[in-house]
Amino acid sequence: MTVNDAHPVPPALLSPAGIDQLRDALTTAGFTAAGIAERLGPQAAAAAGRNDLRAALRLTGDRDPLSTLIRLFVCGQTEPEAAVEAALAPLPLAQARAAGLVERWGDGLRQAVDLEPYGSDWWVLSDVPATARPGQPLPADHVLGIGGASTTLAGATVRRPVGTALDLGTGCGVQALHLAGHAGSVTATDLSVRALRFAATTAALNGQEWELLQGDLVSPVAGRRFDLVVSNPPFVVGPGTATHIYRDSGRAGDGVCAELAAAAPGLLAEGGTMQYLANWVHVGGEDWTERVAGWFAGTGLDAWVVQREVADPMAYVSLWLADASEDADPHRAAAWLDWFDAHKVEAVGFGLITLRRSGRTDPVVRVEDLRQQVEQPLGEQVAAWFGRQDWLRDRDAEQLLSTRYRAADGLVLHQEATMGDEGWAVDRQVLTMRDGLRWSEEVDPLVLALVGGCDGSVPLREQLALLALAHEVTEDDLAEAALPIVAHLVERGVVAPTGATAGPAGGVTASARG
Ligand SMILES: C[S@@+](CC[C@H](N)C(=O)[O-])C[C@H]1O[C@@H](n2cnc3c(N)ncnc32)[C@H](O)[C@@H]1O
Repeated sequence: MTVNDAHPVPPALLSPAGIDQLRDALTTAGFTAAGIAERLGPQAAAAAGRNDLRAALRLTGDRDPLSTLIRLFVCGQTEPEAAVEAALAPLPLAQARAAGLVERWGDGLRQAVDLEPYGSDWWVLSDVPATARPGQPLPADHVLGIGGASTTLAGATVRRPVGTALDLGTGCGVQALHLAGHAGSVTATDLSVRALRFAATTAALNGQEWELLQGDLVSPVAGRRFDLVVSNPPFVVGPGTATHIYRDSGRAGDGVCAELAAAAPGLLAEGGTMQYLANWVHVGGEDWTERVAGWFAGTGLDAWVVQREVADPMAYVSLWLADASEDADPHRAAAWLDWFDAHKVEAVGFGLITLRRSGRTDPVVRVEDLRQQVEQPLGEQVAAWFGRQDWLRDRDAEQLLSTRYRAADGLVLHQEATMGDEGWAVDRQVLTMRDGLRWSEEVDPLVLALVGGCDGSVPLREQLALLALAHEVTEDDLAEAALPIVAHLVERGVVAPTGATAGPAGGVTASARG
């Protein structure tokens, strides 16, 4: 892989007229997510999504255009030339073949790209997935289609209207498609020219216009700032060997994710947000949260880093070798694992990084585990988290004390108790949120009483006065101890200021009624 200066990218796979003809063919046939679901029915469509194609093949034997498109692009079948020609009309078959959409295989034609209906009425073009070519190693310039990481990032993105948006490492263009729904303009970059040709085709087929630029990481947009930046970068951690561009950055360890963090201040407009998926190493003898938090020191940005998964080195290497169908080579695995050993890598974390240029002088950097299933879409939870941070930072101790709070709906308390001579003795109490970020945390009896008393009827100061009396401590001492705890509970959404309504960022705004 070489690092090139930014330049406008080559054209889409088809001419503008060819794109119109392809869109016409797909629309007329009903080759959309809804059209396929209607043709196959919910069960067969869901089974096809899991690669169980039996029902889909049974239901598409009649070879009308929709059946042929489903057999070609969903089931990966080889279809008779005449049926493919009819299904793609008015796009001439010769053009479809020249563009590399379909290719001759045996006595028929098969898909040469993945053409995936997505969302309500989009299509996304990418390379044919590894699952459709079993036993064949992926080429180095493979352009990834929509995968679990793509939909994770799409779901985690804060969707509110912005002026300018950037998709860094756009690949097939799936993130850019989403951005176009709420951004005035979309810029999408990639190091891979092949990926950019797919992205250009995806954009044109969906009637969208994006600025497409080629180059390494942020170099194509050097000196420019955006209101929203998203990236599903080649985050895979390893020795820095780059064999597959969709996966490997060529940077050793988790260097690419640290590099994006360092670049963020120069990329974000005032008030701008950057969200990217990342991997980070857990180094023996180091606290991973401190290590990752170090990426944001001195950036002046608010940072919320959530670790969603952790893998041990063996599982991690096996996963990524299998992903690129490289798992047959024992030397690759050995070299990768040796590098982990040499660098004391005990595990690899996967998660989401959200950065915000708030313009404040007191940036908050929080790095934490968020391994539980959370309420979807995560993007709304992210926006609300930053809103709660703003609410907290806008208030001093006196204001926090004079606010009334209400406990989140549906809190659940789990108790562990031991039966003793004097009856049950509670050993451990865990409070769990049913909604939102669904935090579970152990609480002591005083915090439990505090949360239990948050019914919005009295200010915190009065709640604490009653608790101070019951626990025989001074109100001042209790307030000093309780305020950081209340701030933590507000940050997590366990309690909220009353009269709180969703603010512009989905956060909290206490109304005058509160
Ligand atoms: C994991 S894929 C993500 C594709 C797509 N954005 C998604 O969400 O599914 C990573 C993308 O980053 C691109 N890429 C790899 N190295 C890069 C680099 N140094 N600079 C910019 N893009 C790069 C790859 O070509 C690939 O398209």
